[in-house]
Amino acid sequence: MDTLEIITFPNKLLKQPTQPVDNIDDTIQKLIDGMADIMYAAPGVGLAAIQVGMDKSIIVFDEGLGNGEKSLRTIINPKIVCQEGSIISENEGCLSVPDFRSDVKRCAAVEVEGVDREGKPVKYSRDDFLAVVLQHEIDHLNGILFIDHLSSLKRQLYTRRVMKQQKKGNE
Ligand code: NI
Repeated sequence: MDTLEIITFPNKLLKQPTQPVDNIDDTIQKLIDGMADIMYAAPGVGLAAIQVGMDKSIIVFDEGLGNGEKSLRTIINPKIVCQEGSIISENEGCLSVPDFRSDVKRCAAVEVEGVDREGKPVKYSRDDFLAVVLQHEIDHLNGILFIDHLSSLKRQLYTRRVMKQQKKGNE
């Protein structure tokens, strides 16, 4: 596999719902390894396959949230159910939405089901920050970015800034 690179807003792939994985073959295993490398190098606490331009329903995240020992988790074809109330994620950010952070309203607790990289069923019930990470990454698989949860005014401000920077870059 070629070296993976993070794609960023407004790349259209980020708006596209991803395809379920039905065969966890060598290519998928390599993709997961590549995603983990990119996530830890960034550094980030979660990453969806579409963020490296791969149209697959796969997320990785670090259960230790990047503190201390690595505890990488992979969920293939995740399904999420909101369990509880709402919280405001503070300063949420995304490797595909550079130089921008915002508070986002999220469910306080979630349950996620899917399979791991061995194809074994997995189920995660998580709250607080890990619930936010799971919602954020699974949103990616549905073509949703955290800025899509903001007011259109806030989103437009960011969009204009990106367009300006791109124009500058092309001059
Ligand atoms: Ni993201």
